[in-house]
Amino acid sequence: MKRLGVMAALPQELGDLLTQMRASGDVQTVTLGQREYHVGAVRGANVVATLARVGKVAAATTASALIHAFEADAIVFTGVAGGVHADVRVGDIVVADSLMQHDLDASPLFPRYEVPLLNRSRFDADRALSAALANAAQAFIAEEGQALAARFSIDKPRVHRGLIVSGDQFIASAGSVNALRDALPNALAVEMEGAALAQVCYEYGVPCAVVRTISDTADAEAPASFAEFLIAIASTYSSGMLARFFKA
Ligand code: ADE
Repeated sequence: MKRLGVMAALPQELGDLLTQMRASGDVQTVTLGQREYHVGAVRGANVVATLARVGKVAAATTASALIHAFEADAIVFTGVAGGVHADVRVGDIVVADSLMQHDLDASPLFPRYEVPLLNRSRFDADRALSAALANAAQAFIAEEGQALAARFSIDKPRVHRGLIVSGDQFIASAGSVNALRDALPNALAVEMEGAALAQVCYEYGVPCAVVRTISDTADAEAPASFAEFLIAIASTYSSGMLARFFKA
């Protein structure tokens, strides 16, 4: 790999990556399209790290810039998500096997969820990158699980692999999350960027992977749970997982 792109939507979701890059050597910051791209290294791996901000368009434009302006030849997205599947709890980690846009519907011209003229609705995450992320997540939980329980009352978090769905909506009601469950029973988690990244990476033939910590369960408690998790906990997860990912 020549250079790994690392994206998150919000600063807490990137953890201490920029600090780690600065500790590893020079970091050059370039502003493009109102975003800052930080080019440097972590433990000998060339990295370009950036904050995409929120939503599918933000993720797609940022992914395209990572590939074309910063020569990223693989991209990892780290952040939080709402739990959709009944087995997925706050504090668990979900690594995407595949991703789709739950709000894409050009029916009856094209089947619901299908990206028009691309002939597909699901985009696979890269297997090797996803396996490395899942291993890092597993190691983080094994080594830090007791500290998470003591600091944040997170009980026996688990790592899941499967479908992550993305859309330009913050899902925050029982009705909305139940509708998602009914429509897409395999969906583990919902967020607002991953499938856009996956589509761009598919179109350009660039491997990508998405790891998400569950901040809420996409119900009426979601706004409060999300805000608390983002401020107090998200950075601990992203830092812990990325440190182990780059150590491997
Ligand atoms: N990211 C974190 N929680 C989310 C939710 N409930 N809906 C959409 N994106 C999210």
